[in-house]
Amino acid sequence: MGVNHKTAIVTGAGSGIGAGIAAMLAQKGANVIVLDLNRAGAEKTAGEITAAGGKAIALQVDVTSWPEVCAAVAEAARVFGTVDILVNNAGALKDSSILKMSEQDWDLVIDTCLKGSWHCCKAVLGHMRRQNFGRVVNITSRAWLGNPGQSNYSSAKAGIVGLTMSLALEFARYGVTLNIVAPGFIEAPMARRLPPETQQKVINAQPIKRPGRIEDVANAVLYFCDEDTSYVTGQILYVDGGRHVV
Ligand SMILES: NC(=O)c1ccc[n+]([C@@H]2O[C@H](COP(=O)([O-])OP(=O)(O)OC[C@H]3O[C@@H](n4cnc5c(N)ncnc54)[C@H](O)[C@@H]3O)[C@@H](O)[C@H]2O)c1
Repeated sequence: MGVNHKTAIVTGAGSGIGAGIAAMLAQKGANVIVLDLNRAGAEKTAGEITAAGGKAIALQVDVTSWPEVCAAVAEAARVFGTVDILVNNAGALKDSSILKMSEQDWDLVIDTCLKGSWHCCKAVLGHMRRQNFGRVVNITSRAWLGNPGQSNYSSAKAGIVGLTMSLALEFARYGVTLNIVAPGFIEAPMARRLPPETQQKVINAQPIKRPGRIEDVANAVLYFCDEDTSYVTGQILYVDGGRHVV
């Protein structure tokens, strides 16, 4: 049971949280497709997994491109025979007040986070339906509840919630579950790009007054990916030190 011998695609796995999720899945016995726009990052993650005795391949893919995503899923199925798990983790940030936000910055964040997740779901769900098994975990953010200066990011992450809930209903009858992990402030590149005083303010606002670790997120993802987690779908698990309750 668990994820042993399952094949998992992790997007945005060339860095930060995605790299941690890929490593955790590989450590538990999954074959991992490390997918990222950044080829060097993807190769680094896959190399580290292989060096630790795991199975991984790196693919340079832009999740905003439907043909690239289709080709990557076909390659994953060719190499490992199937696709059992998808973790939609690739994301982008372009924060500013709506009054200053360009249309490009709106499109980039919506396309990377939301359209990219839709592309990847669309590309794997046919395989999963045919094999009557699948686990999809979509990484949103506590910010889907709203954050000043993040109208693009919050909208994209809220869209991921709607996408996941709809598909959870659509695919429940095929043994495919879709769930959401919503991190708060995590020791990973995206949060670390914030000004230090903002980082401290965010941590101070949390009931648990420390940054989250990448492993905290990876553990939550692992729970939803487990073959035994078959009666949980359409769920949101916050990994945010309790911030969503405040
Ligand atoms: N770090 C945090 O505190 C935090 C909090 C909440 C949610 N998240 C979410 O977790 C995820 C990972 O965040 P992170 O901090 O590890 O950031 P990160 O910037 O280290 O990782 C994002 C990865 O996505 C890749 N990527 C970007 N655009 C892509 C595209 N078009 N196609 C394929 N890959 C693409 C990047 O190359 C990068 O490797 C993101 O979805 C983010 O929104 C992070």
